[in-house]
Amino acid sequence: MRLLVTGGAGYIGSHTCVELQKAGHDIVIYDNLYNAKSAAVERISKITGKEVPFIKGDILDEKALDEVFCRYHIDAVIHFAGLKAVGESVEKPLLYYENNVSGTISLCKAMARAGCKKLIFSSSATVYGMHNEPPFTEDMPLSTINPYGATKLMIEGILTDLAAADKDWSVVLLRYFNPIGAHESGLLGEDPQGIPNNLLPYVKRVAVGKLPCVNIFGDDYPTPDGTGVRDYIHVVDLAKGLLAALKALETDGTKIYNLGTGNGYSVKEVVAAFSRACGHEIPWRIAPRRGGDAPFSFADASRAKKELGWTAQYDLDRMCADAWRFISRNPDGIQ
Ligand code: NAD
Ligand code: UD1
Repeated sequence: MRLLVTGGAGYIGSHTCVELQKAGHDIVIYDNLYNAKSAAVERISKITGKEVPFIKGDILDEKALDEVFCRYHIDAVIHFAGLKAVGESVEKPLLYYENNVSGTISLCKAMARAGCKKLIFSSSATVYGMHNEPPFTEDMPLSTINPYGATKLMIEGILTDLAAADKDWSVVLLRYFNPIGAHESGLLGEDPQGIPNNLLPYVKRVAVGKLPCVNIFGDDYPTPDGTGVRDYIHVVDLAKGLLAALKALETDGTKIYNLGTGNGYSVKEVVAAFSRACGHEIPWRIAPRRGGDAPFSFADASRAKKELGWTAQYDLDRMCADAWRFISRNPDGIQ
């Protein structure tokens, strides 16, 4: 297949492009580089030994999208492009609704004009909200508590309506749990700008000595060690899940899959695993709870196993070892 990968220069997108090329698919990356560097595209090519067509463009720019669909025969779109910082979405809701929701609508309009009606969308476990008991199954009631989550829920609804209205559309909604880790080559990985909000990027900064200490947000949750439990999944496993999901595009309608391991690890377990990976103790202290954090989040990953034949393979130690290799070789991120 020839796949258009929006946001393909970003963290999950770049790892997915490697797996797509390794599996023999042709790709075109479309990314405005808001949160990525073009060097990531060069690194994908370095890993796979294949050329990676790259277009710097915005999903809000329908004219530029039309040109891409005119230039390449695209069979399906894998849509990662979006903004993902929860705190920023609270401060700048219009930016998030415009970029994520309007951007997805303009992408779908360009796809329809080109007659390309197969789409995989990057949703998030955040849509399970605060009121469900994990493990989360795909048919649980959905809710969100911040604008970022609201954009994911809205887009899921828009795409479901689109596929219901026109039987030519095939839509796959993938709900990612907590991707961490990096490519084993040490060439690709995640290193966000500024002070990180998410746990692993923060732990990595402490590990390389750029931040003094990990703040553990609360140790009085009803979890085994009192700290928050999440379903961390190796980003390469997630990328393989995306590859498996291509199969679900063969039939029309909307399909929904969790991409998680089904296991939960606590913040303290993650810090301990990262200490083992980097060979020195990561300093930590207990800080107040962060607003909007649930005690537990982990997937029921059985639907993806049954219908896509996919399960995650890598354990927490491997996730941390690969993340450490990336950050120790690229302390300033991908340059
Ligand atoms: P990322 O920021 O590394 O990648 C997103 C990419 O999209 C970036 O390269 C950015 O430059 C690009 N982009 C943003 N807005 C764009 C626009 N208007 N036009 C073109 N390109 C644009 O993030 P990621 O972690 O790789 O996440 C990819 C997708 O998966 C996002 O939609 C995110 O919401 C979703 N997701 C991520 C996580 C996670 O923890 N990383 C969890 C669940 C869901
Ligand atoms: C967060 C977002 C979620 C988003 C996901 C992926 C919030 C409330 N949730 O999920 O919407 O889909 O990222 O982008 O922002 N922790 C610490 N110290 C830190 C950072 C985190 O103890 O410095 C803890 C958190 O309390 C949580 C766990 O580590 O228990 C994981 O946090 P994080 O990596 O931010 O992921 P989520 O909260 O699952």
